[in-house]
This record gives sequence, C-alpha cells and structure tokens, in this order.
Amino acid sequence: MTMIIAHRGASKLAPENTMPAFELALRMKAEAIETDVQLTKDNIPVLIHDEQVKRTTNSYGYIKDYHLAELKQLDAGSWFSKKFAGATILTLEEFLQWMSDTPLHLHLELKNNKIDYMYLEPIVFELLNQYNVVDRTTISTFNPKSVQRFSQLSSTIEIGLLTSRKINNLARYAKELGAKAIHVKYRLLNKALIQKCQQEDMRVRVYTVNHFSPMMRCFRLGCDGIFTDVPNKALLYRNKF
Ligand code: G3P
Ligand code: MG
Repeated sequence: MTMIIAHRGASKLAPENTMPAFELALRMKAEAIETDVQLTKDNIPVLIHDEQVKRTTNSYGYIKDYHLAELKQLDAGSWFSKKFAGATILTLEEFLQWMSDTPLHLHLELKNNKIDYMYLEPIVFELLNQYNVVDRTTISTFNPKSVQRFSQLSSTIEIGLLTSRKINNLARYAKELGAKAIHVKYRLLNKALIQKCQQEDMRVRVYTVNHFSPMMRCFRLGCDGIFTDVPNKALLYRNKF
C-alpha cells in the first residue's frame, strides 16, 4: 500500500515544518512526516526547508550564520497566517521528543545539496539513535555524496536518493551509492521506472502529489509512498482506491 507522507507536515493548512503542521498531520492520521534538516552556526540540527530564513520567518539571512538561540527568537508562523504567530523553528531534537511518542514514520531530508554542512550526517544519526527511531526513519537527500556518507555510517537505515532530474538507470545508480529507495519528482514517474526499481529491490516514492488524478496514478502504479501537503485528501482517496 502507498504510504501517505505529510510533506513538511500538513503544510497546506499550517506553516511548514512547525509543530502545528506536524500535530495536524498526526491528527489527520498521516502515516509519516517529511521534514527538512540543516545545521545552525553552533551545529544544532533544525527543521527548515530554505537555506535562508526569509520566506518562512520574520527575518533574513542564512541558517548557517545563526546560533540556535538567535533562530529561536524568530516567528516561523506569521508569514503563513496570524493565527500561527509565535510558532518557532524546531530543533530536530524537539521534533524527535514529540515523534517518539507517536506511531509516525519519519522521512528526514538532509537539506545539504546547496550547502554541504560538515558533520550533518553523524550529528543526525546520533540523535536518531538517542531517540531510538532509526528503524522508523528514512533519510533522504538530493546530494549523492551525502547518500554515500550516510550509508557508510549505517548499512541498515533506509536511505533515499532524491532527484528532480532524469538520470540514466536511476535505480542502479542510487543502489550503487548505497540508497535503498529513490524519491522522484512526479513528472519522472512511469511504469518502466517502477519495474526497474522492482528488479533492483528499490523503493519508489514520489513528490509532491497534491491532486486527485496524480494521486490515483501513484496508487495504481504501486508507488511505495507519496509526499503530499494534503494528507487528509490523500488518505480519503486511497481508501476509495
Ligand atoms: O522529500 C521530498 C521533497 O521534500 C523534496 O523536495 O524541495 O520539498 O524539500 P523539497
Ligand atoms: Mg523536503
């Protein structure tokens, strides 16, 4: 069955990558949450999508140039709606504390394709171990070198290579890097890709799928998961499928 993964939480109805978006995804009964992780200046993993804070907070500048204490002062909710004023950027640790008491699976995307944060992989891996969630976490990244580095840290954790580009023999390429899954942009999805992945024993997940017919196509083709901003709709449609 295709797993419904709340993309940055239930991000259509609450500010992405914040506690309200994660709590809403859980209430909607999403099976997994996808979130993006980067490092602060003091090497604390925090959950935010863009390398700069401008789009999703009331400030500007790069995550890598902020200490955690400074980032924590920012409002990560008001940009979305006044209703969410005061939501903060979460640390990965705060998220794991919350998640470890839920049945959720975690899709943790290392946002290290533009800025290749040093030590992001070991810092993240240590926290996942500390909170005992390694067996319900999938790591993903657009950065092939980071796939290799993470697979050297752990041969058991599931790692997915993210791509929005067409790559020749993608399944084999990702497998050779140490991935066990590919996470592709919807336009790259087709039957041949699914078949190739089955041959290579690779999982296939698709982002970002928010509408009825692409969702049904993903279910029909047998994708292992979809990343969606509307997990409530996706669950409804999957139940009908
Ligand atoms: O992990 C799937 C998806 O989140 C990848 O793209 O830009 O939304 O992080 P993006
Ligand atoms: Mg992401």
